[in-house]
Amino acid sequence: MIKKNKRPSLENIIDSEDLCLEILHPGGLEITRELAQLCHIGKVIKVLDIGSGTGESAFYLVRNFNCHIIGIDISDRMIKRAKRKAIDHGVIIQFKKADAHDLPFKDNTFDAVISECTTSILDKERAIAEMARVTISGGYIGIHDICYNNDGSEHQRLAEIEFRRPESLGGWKTQFEKAGLIDIMIKDRSNLIPEWEKEILEKLGRITRFKIFLKIIKNWGIGGLRKVMESRRIFQSQHTGYGIIVGKKP
Ligand SMILES: C[S@@+](CC[C@H](N)C(=O)[O-])C[C@H]1O[C@@H](n2cnc3c(N)ncnc32)[C@H](O)[C@@H]1O
Repeated sequence: MIKKNKRPSLENIIDSEDLCLEILHPGGLEITRELAQLCHIGKVIKVLDIGSGTGESAFYLVRNFNCHIIGIDISDRMIKRAKRKAIDHGVIIQFKKADAHDLPFKDNTFDAVISECTTSILDKERAIAEMARVTISGGYIGIHDICYNNDGSEHQRLAEIEFRRPESLGGWKTQFEKAGLIDIMIKDRSNLIPEWEKEILEKLGRITRFKIFLKIIKNWGIGGLRKVMESRRIFQSQHTGYGIIVGKKP
């Protein structure tokens, strides 16, 4: 159910509705594989996935890279879904409710820390500093996230509606540098955004889309619908891109 007390946003629709979407980022498990390779994830490596959502990437990484992984997410709903899936798949992965801004792990715990399509929702400086803190020296921190391809003025509105504050790709690199990371690599994957939108609409189907539309109107009224449509327009615009950012802790 969409909760009335939550503000109207696409993010809240995804969090509050059981939309049967397992992967909540552009590029599917292909970009997860690319991120894992760039972060040198492999056998016996200890990985933290921040904002692990339904756990789909964690399952994929354990199966295909043979690593050990812990997923954390602030949403009870997501943690419950991921734990349920772990039982159903018979896979041992720890999913823990935690805040990315204040990770419940000691310094230098993980060989690699990843976060998919989540960092732009967070206080970026604090979250990336936390990622760096819990990573071992010589370990990798890798994210993929929304970025903007213009001066970012349109994205001020995204911050107001979605609380999502992307950076330009260069801006993401600067954020990694500020956290003291080295060997920073950025990869533009903006082509994935339009494909993702198409894929989500197809997966949801017309009936679910109509049900969501009715729920938005019922809970948030026409004003809420306008906001959701506005943020969707910004996501779809040519100014919204997507990128991978990877850095190493010295
Ligand atoms: C767009 S979803 C991405 C989920 C998953 N990484 C994926 O790509 O499928 C963002 C996730 O970040 C989680 N999240 C938001 N704020 C968080 C915070 N402060 N700490 C941890 N997780 C957070 C949300 O609950 C949600 O599951």
